[in-house]
Amino acid sequence: MVPHPPLTTHYSGPEGKPAFVNRLFDAGARHYDSVVDWGFLGSGAAYRSWALERNGLRRGDRLLDVACGTGLVAVAATRILGTAGNITCLDPSEGMLAVARTKLKATFVTGRAEKLPFPDNTFDFLTMGYALRHVTSLDETFREYRRVLKPGGRLLILEVTKPAGRVGRFLFRLYFGRIYPFFTHLATRSRDARDMMVYFWETMDACVPPASVLEALRSAGLGGVKRTGQLGLFSEYSAVKE
Ligand SMILES: C[S@@+](CC[C@H](N)C(=O)[O-])C[C@H]1O[C@@H](n2cnc3c(N)ncnc32)[C@H](O)[C@@H]1O
Repeated sequence: MVPHPPLTTHYSGPEGKPAFVNRLFDAGARHYDSVVDWGFLGSGAAYRSWALERNGLRRGDRLLDVACGTGLVAVAATRILGTAGNITCLDPSEGMLAVARTKLKATFVTGRAEKLPFPDNTFDFLTMGYALRHVTSLDETFREYRRVLKPGGRLLILEVTKPAGRVGRFLFRLYFGRIYPFFTHLATRSRDARDMMVYFWETMDACVPPASVLEALRSAGLGGVKRTGQLGLFSEYSAVKE
């Protein structure tokens, strides 16, 4: 299962997606933190910590943060773990990793969610923040997540999801499709940053519904699969390797 159909205005077919996405994040990396900070009204750090805490991240856990980007989830996790020494951050974008390296002393690995370069049964906790739409296959990704988690290990995927109601959808489209990219361009004067946020919107709009994500998690053999919604906008997908 793919997280969304190929967006052929950007690349011709599924095989073109990884290179396109990589270029996009490499080019936009230096603007990412400031853009998501104002775009989500400065709530990002507190929300990430709150979500990690509620979903059971504990001191002593060995954490893999997939699609770490500039390290926003990993920095939030450091506050709970008390150290970045137990955190491995993985991302395919060297540009995003370069920013993350300036923030915390974790282990950084260049790689992709669909083929994780780690042995079986390695991690107690696995996170993925706002990146599920960028993988090429949900099934491959979730099988990999299950493989690298230890038995009893937990998984938390954070996403933004289109609201179900008509008014919510209209406001969502207006904000993420128009207002956010426009002000991103205005504030950064960077087309790369604007393109990153346009693509952010397009992938959210085209994304499969939460029920499909839950089904793919179950099909990968994960247990305790559930989605918790926040404000009708934020999704927390959680699961356990039983
Ligand atoms: C929107 S950023 C999210 C960064 C961070 N997790 C956060 O919470 O802000 C998406 C990240 O996903 C990464 N990414 C894209 N394709 C990926 C893949 N196949 N596997 C892992 N990460 C990927 C991008 O390089 C980018 O850093």
